[in-house]
Amino acid sequence: MSDFLVKREDLRECRIAESQAPELEPGQALLRVERFGLTANNVTYAVFGQTMSYWDFFPAAEGWGRVPMWGFAEVEQSKAQGVEPGVRVYGYLPPSSHLLVTPAHAGGDGFIDGSPQRAALPSAYQGYLATDADPFYRADTEELQMLLRPLFFTSFLIDDQLVDEGLAARGPIVISSASSKTAIAAAFLLAQREGVELVGLTSPRNAEFVESLGVYGRTVTYDGIQSLQRGPATFVDIAGDGNVRLAVHSHYGDELVYSMTVGVTHWEELGAGEAELPGPSPTFFFAPDRVSKRSEDWGRAGLQRRVSDAWHPFCEWTDGWLEVLHDRGFDAVQRVYLDVLEGRVDPKTANVLSLD
Ligand SMILES: NC(=O)c1ccc[n+]([C@@H]2O[C@H](COP(=O)([O-])OP(=O)(O)OC[C@H]3O[C@@H](n4cnc5c(N)ncnc54)[C@H](OP(=O)(O)O)[C@@H]3O)[C@@H](O)[C@H]2O)c1
Repeated sequence: MSDFLVKREDLRECRIAESQAPELEPGQALLRVERFGLTANNVTYAVFGQTMSYWDFFPAAEGWGRVPMWGFAEVEQSKAQGVEPGVRVYGYLPPSSHLLVTPAHAGGDGFIDGSPQRAALPSAYQGYLATDADPFYRADTEELQMLLRPLFFTSFLIDDQLVDEGLAARGPIVISSASSKTAIAAAFLLAQREGVELVGLTSPRNAEFVESLGVYGRTVTYDGIQSLQRGPATFVDIAGDGNVRLAVHSHYGDELVYSMTVGVTHWEELGAGEAELPGPSPTFFFAPDRVSKRSEDWGRAGLQRRVSDAWHPFCEWTDGWLEVLHDRGFDAVQRVYLDVLEGRVDPKTANVLSLD
């Protein structure tokens, strides 16, 4: 078995670890990781590996971590009841050749990993969904599912909250890292709403791409924030860049209606712009809260159905601009991981990988 490891104290250092396949104990199953997607979202898991316990999902040698990915795996061996070899699942996976799991609640729709080190971690990351029973699954959109499904789910919830709380009707929604997949998905959904005004903030090298998507009403580079018209506005912060945040808050001041913290693509600038922020305090977007609210309103199945209904048209739309790149092996995983870490990936591309 092999694992792609990242040094926790220096995210630029990577290595491969080889080990023998384990003897399964009763109740365990061994998944063979087929392929996974790698975007800035995965780098954020590494950046917050310690503080938000992302390193705890897939333990590694002292001081090293396995960066969580989303992808497909096949049950290679099983001593777990209700989990048959050959079943394919979608879920949270390490950048490894294999993952040892202890399935619980196994059924036709998949199982959760009941391994003790994961028990205290958020439930959103525990499920392994059998492809046959999954309303999101289509064979021809597997790659999009690896790359975009968790991002799209977040974007769906952001769109829903902004509309539900009346924010989308109170001036423009200004989205940073507008070229990120999470931002694009949110903009795609919001652009379908009547009367919503969208401003995409991005870096100069990505401005043309953001413009070409046709979902933002206006594309503005980070150095042009002062050119935006003053008035009520909502900030959806996906860059997590302290200087950008300060510039947006200073520009709109008390007229900024809401400031939603979603991501940290500019992970090295997180602590920048330390001056006191004018306007409302940023509020961390906590997806599980929205999931709870909408599960109460619509039922869990109702929420899943609404998201999957919105998902398929989004997949079709990405066909017009997204280029999926494929590669395999340690060198490829390391190259792509470092490119994503350093922000060197062309936003119209996304990478699907396997370690084998
Ligand atoms: N809170 C939640 O529940 C939740 C859920 C999903 C995603 N997120 C977060 O949303 C963010 C976006 O994830 P994604 O996978 O959609 O991203 P992505 O598509 O890989 O984003 C790529 C874009 O991010 C910016 N970027 C990435 N790395 C950079 C670097 N090192 N330096 C400068 N700019 C960099 C660039 O955009 P610009 O030039 O336009 O800035 C780049 O085009 C992540 O931080 C992720 O964790 C949060």
